[in-house]
Amino acid sequence: MSVKDIFTSDWHIQHPVWTAVDAYTISNLHPPSQPNSAALVYALKNSRDQGLPDIASYPVIGKFFALQCRALRVKHALELGTLGGYTSIWLASENPGLQVTTIEVNPHYRDVAQQNLEHAGVADRVDSRLGAGLDVLPVLGKEIAAGEKPRLGFVYIDADKKNNWNYLDQVIPMCDSGAVIFVDNIVAGGGLVDDAQLGDPMVSGAREVVENVGKDDRVEGMVLQTVGEKSYDGVLMVVVN
Ligand code: DHB
Ligand code: MG
Repeated sequence: MSVKDIFTSDWHIQHPVWTAVDAYTISNLHPPSQPNSAALVYALKNSRDQGLPDIASYPVIGKFFALQCRALRVKHALELGTLGGYTSIWLASENPGLQVTTIEVNPHYRDVAQQNLEHAGVADRVDSRLGAGLDVLPVLGKEIAAGEKPRLGFVYIDADKKNNWNYLDQVIPMCDSGAVIFVDNIVAGGGLVDDAQLGDPMVSGAREVVENVGKDDRVEGMVLQTVGEKSYDGVLMVVVN
């Protein structure tokens, strides 16, 4: 049975129970009274008002990543694909000791992200770089090697999917041993295991990074499937040896 037999539409289909569970858990574990809640809602609204695509992470994933950073006492986190800065706000606002570097190729997205980061009061700890990931990463690598920035303890890869593996390959040498790297949109509604969707860079990029991680002695990895308010998807979690 293929995923298309279960979910009749594309991978963005939402199940009312998944959404209700997210609403229940968020209302108990991160209610609107939390200090960063209003800024996070503002970031999504401002991003939408300024025409950014509605593909940001959602609260459950944002807090999950922020808690990973807290548990690992991460000093420096990197994000590829800033979009409107939503995930960066989560990481920085939940972790006062954390500095974030975030890379975005689209100047308009980067401008909107800067507004959102300033509104959230975290712009002083989020270094937002404009450029293609494959151009900015070598610069960041030199800064880390020179001791100008701490080594990376957390990385979130959520940019152009065809470069998933290239980004991962480049960031591994910038990471501390034990650093955690997540790659977004790996399951894509089950597209991961559907050969007919290999023409979609999201699917081919997901397979390339999963298969390469499995063969790479520098890291260990596993895929976590997720359901929730956005869709059926999942992340690749990688830990640096
Ligand atoms: C989509 C979702 C994402 O999380 C992303 O990074 C890119 C695209 C999408 O829904 O198409
Ligand atoms: Mg994504």
